[in-house]
Amino acid sequence: MERKCLGKSEGLTFWLAQPDDYEDVMSISEDIYGGNDYLPHRYHEWMEEPERTVILARREGKLVALESGLVVDEGATLVLEGLRVCSSERGRGVAGVIQRFADSYIQQQHPTIKMKRMTRGDDPGPEKLAKFILLARRAVLPLCGEAESFDGFISFLKNKLQSPGVLSGLVPLDETQLKRVLLDHKLPSRVQLPGGAIIQDWQPLRPMEGNLAILRRRGLTWLADSQEAPVFLSFYSPPYPIPYNGGSLRFNIDMFGTDPVFAQCALVGLIEAVLAKGELKGSVKVFVYMDQSLRETLQAFCEGHQGVMRCREPWKQLFLEREI
Ligand SMILES: CC(C)(COP(=O)(O)OP(=O)(O)OC[C@H]1O[C@@H](n2cnc3c(N)ncnc32)[C@H](O)[C@@H]1OP(=O)(O)O)[C@@H](O)C(=O)NCCC(=O)NCCS
Repeated sequence: MERKCLGKSEGLTFWLAQPDDYEDVMSISEDIYGGNDYLPHRYHEWMEEPERTVILARREGKLVALESGLVVDEGATLVLEGLRVCSSERGRGVAGVIQRFADSYIQQQHPTIKMKRMTRGDDPGPEKLAKFILLARRAVLPLCGEAESFDGFISFLKNKLQSPGVLSGLVPLDETQLKRVLLDHKLPSRVQLPGGAIIQDWQPLRPMEGNLAILRRRGLTWLADSQEAPVFLSFYSPPYPIPYNGGSLRFNIDMFGTDPVFAQCALVGLIEAVLAKGELKGSVKVFVYMDQSLRETLQAFCEGHQGVMRCREPWKQLFLEREI
């Protein structure tokens, strides 16, 4: 495909990313997110994804930065993801330059966009945060272990469950039930959706008809306490390869609601569901995203197993919004 320069600013040129930019993009992605980067796996999906724009910035032909935006919420919101700047150019404002270009380019293509949203795993401090509305902070619990340790981990957790009977109280949701649950206007308050959004593997989506297709193509497995009017909703996103430790698998569990017993059961039920699919092999990382009030309970619940352990201190996921 012929490449056309989209624009220029501050010594950088901007381009739409193409499939054959993959190696270049990987070369600026080394060590990103401590080896937990999703982009090596998702890049080619992003090239095909409807409503996604991936922008590259080059200086004298050399790739220096990437930013990507997905238009969601029936055209009203731009979700920014994947921002990265090559290590030799960091600290010189390049991230700001590519973001400003991407915002204006994508908005020209999609004039319905009103807001941009993003999630991030670091807290840039009050001065930087002041440019955004902070919609929510969630806790992240990171676990890791070898695939063969997970069966033992599940037995260990089941033994610790205060009310094992409640395990069977969590139920899967089929597509029809899920649609009804997600489009129920009381859902955001009932399960206390952070900033009114389902955050799926760092991607915030309002529970609305136009986002259902996005959620469907993510291949999620859902568990809730009710198929009609849940107060607790959870799912896992299928495992994918990450660079960590020479090659590992990562999967994410997202939870909405504040009931600690349901949270424990969801953790057990969702890991069991992953195991039942037989997809785990080698080193595995699991990131659990939840309401901050659940962090201590889940952390204590997981503590004490020799095979699957917390691999770093829990941290926070920030959910930010800003007018575009
Ligand atoms: C985080 C990273 C993209 C910052 O790039 P940088 O060019 O060195 O950032 P600078 O501090 O020089 O640029 C400052 C501008 O970028 C913005 N910025 C910096 N880090 C950001 C982040 N994580 N998310 C959004 N914007 C960010 C600043 O708000 C500022 O914007 P302004 O010019 O509008 O005020 C870069 O360090 C990097 O690639 N790190 C590894 C990947 C990563 O952690 N990405 C973060 C994804 S949330």
